[in-house]
Amino acid sequence: MRGATVLVTGGAGFVGSAVARRLAAPDVGARVVAFDNLRRRGSELNVPLLAEAGVAFVHGDVRHQDDLALGGRPIDLIVECAAEPSVLAGYGGGSRYVVDANLGGLVNCLELARERGARMMFLSTSRVYPVERVNALAVRETTTRYALTDQPGVPGASAEGIAEDFPLGGVRTLYGSTKLAGELLLAEYAALGVEYVITRFGVIAGPGQMGKVDQGVFSLWMARHVFGGALRYQGWGGAGKQVRDVVHIADACDLLLAQLGAWSSVNGRTWNAGGGLANSLSLAETTALCEEISGTHVEMSSDLATHPSDVRVYLSDQRALMHALSWRPLRAPRQVLEDLHAWMTSNAATLAPVFRA
Ligand SMILES: NC(=O)c1ccc[n+]([C@@H]2O[C@H](COP(=O)([O-])OP(=O)(O)OC[C@H]3O[C@@H](n4cnc5c(N)ncnc54)[C@H](O)[C@@H]3O)[C@@H](O)[C@H]2O)c1
Repeated sequence: MRGATVLVTGGAGFVGSAVARRLAAPDVGARVVAFDNLRRRGSELNVPLLAEAGVAFVHGDVRHQDDLALGGRPIDLIVECAAEPSVLAGYGGGSRYVVDANLGGLVNCLELARERGARMMFLSTSRVYPVERVNALAVRETTTRYALTDQPGVPGASAEGIAEDFPLGGVRTLYGSTKLAGELLLAEYAALGVEYVITRFGVIAGPGQMGKVDQGVFSLWMARHVFGGALRYQGWGGAGKQVRDVVHIADACDLLLAQLGAWSSVNGRTWNAGGGLANSLSLAETTALCEEISGTHVEMSSDLATHPSDVRVYLSDQRALMHALSWRPLRAPRQVLEDLHAWMTSNAATLAPVFRA
């Protein structure tokens, strides 16, 4: 990537700003432009950090093709991280933004890729897998979590989690639909000459994530322990036994670099990636770790009603990716939470207004 020009859309966001800084680091040496409309609360705090890392920042909106003209400069790679990433987007009415940004914005990025001959990395999501099918998987209940059991007869599912060939028919949230539709568009543009890789991430977390009730659960959980406020176990019996896998942002960045370094093996393909079974936590387990790390206790309430968007257990079966690349997630969930705690406590004055909003 040395000397290559990379456009990171959503480049002031949690993932985008970390990727932009990693690509601009001396050992990689790319020329990086971060592009963001600063819609997400807290993304504005990343703009000075981007400048310190030598990343150029452009304030713009992927929904507006003219904003993406970028003075006609050559672009070798687009990392598409601009999105409304909330699974709850559109539930309260008004699906226009999530569709326009996630799908319309992607079309504009794909047109740019086609025009400038750029490759595209698309950050998709585990949310492409339909809610009802994921929740139909067999589980056993332990004292702290639900655990997937073997799934005989279910394609793409096992105790290891969900693989890329898990069936896609069914409802998956507006957010998930925009991402799946985006994946289809990428395949169409590939036929027009745009090279791409799609990664369906489970939960990514770590320092820099401005978690809120509808997105960024591990960051939100730690933030409540650091900055105060209440938390709630919602749905699935109200005991916090729902499970997600979590991949540290540094591991996610390493993965994107590994994919870039092995482009011919990943080009044109769709991969599941996350923490996997070994790096998964239930909410109840997350609470226990947050208490231990922060030394504080948060009042916890319970709501038995399960939201229609919610899945009981999601684990990324990423064996295909690990077989193709030498990448492995190296940082355990405890480290994700410890790093979140260290980031929040050492930047408390700046972050408190964001997390208390
Ligand atoms: N964080 C996760 O757990 C996770 C998991 C799977 C996939 N992803 C995907 O990774 C990408 C980045 O997610 P994130 O967690 O960093 O979210 P984020 O909200 O922190 O970052 C998204 C950024 O995009 C910007 N943005 C929103 N609309 C825009 C627009 N119209 N034009 C330009 N910029 C716009 C926001 O201001 C924000 O800075 C998203 O595509 C998301 O779907 C994230």
